[in-house]
Amino acid sequence: MKEGHALISVRPSEGCLGAQIAGVDLSQPWSDATFGEVREALHEHHVIVLRNQPASLPAESFLDFAARFGRPEPHVLDQFHHPTHPDILILSNVKKDGKPVGLADGGTYWHTDYSYLEVPARATLLYSIEVPAEGGDTLFSDQEQAYADLPETTRRRIDGLVTLNLYGNRDDLDPVSRTIAYPLTDEQKEQRSISVIRHPLVRRHPYTGRKALYSVSGTSFAIEGMPDGEALALLRELAAHSTQAEYRYRVSYGVGDVVVWDNASVLHSATLTNPRYPRTLWRITTKEAERPVV
Ligand SMILES: [Fe+2]
Repeated sequence: MKEGHALISVRPSEGCLGAQIAGVDLSQPWSDATFGEVREALHEHHVIVLRNQPASLPAESFLDFAARFGRPEPHVLDQFHHPTHPDILILSNVKKDGKPVGLADGGTYWHTDYSYLEVPARATLLYSIEVPAEGGDTLFSDQEQAYADLPETTRRRIDGLVTLNLYGNRDDLDPVSRTIAYPLTDEQKEQRSISVIRHPLVRRHPYTGRKALYSVSGTSFAIEGMPDGEALALLRELAAHSTQAEYRYRVSYGVGDVVVWDNASVLHSATLTNPRYPRTLWRITTKEAERPVV
């Protein structure tokens, strides 16, 4: 057990991010003090894994836990909302009567959630319901450490730059690819009023104040005031640096596992699943209290 936590136990991974938390049962009532320790662990380790939660955790319990991190916001892909709790997005490769019951292959490229919105995501939570025999892991990379390790000249060059962001995966716009961002219907585009969103390239964490690379992969497609080719090359160079093996943490799921990540300090990527093996998760994404300062 890590010192400084009285109510939960925190077992950090061997890498620079990721920790397993024990001592929390999301189906039982639990205190603000316990949540305080969980949140502190999230800020320190960026990704936390709560193994073996009850196999049929009520949606309300999962929502109560998520809402402590921030206000949940329903995903734009409303065809995959939980039937009675729209704050929950169903991720699944299962089909019923030929129709998908959830979003399959979501986010299989490095990104941070909701960076195409002015107020992006705080924490995202997944609750694992059906686990495939192979595949379906989630990869994370530590954007604070990656920033800290950059040469000082690079840090000085990029501090203060502003990226331009749009819904989608800038590195894959092929409509038949499995790693494209799931296409929006015209109605969803309108509802989202898709416009270019400005974010800081180097962002301070809203709680710890620590600096991290932000949204260098995924939705960012340009840098304000920089020629397009140069900007894209810089974003790709930073993404290649910040997603190297030494900054990564891989989560493999068991049934009942809950994973929480901090979108201000990590990039994440799903990995593809084999359509032969059913897999289903619930996802809740919560929002920051304020937009990042640019
Ligand atoms: Fe995501």
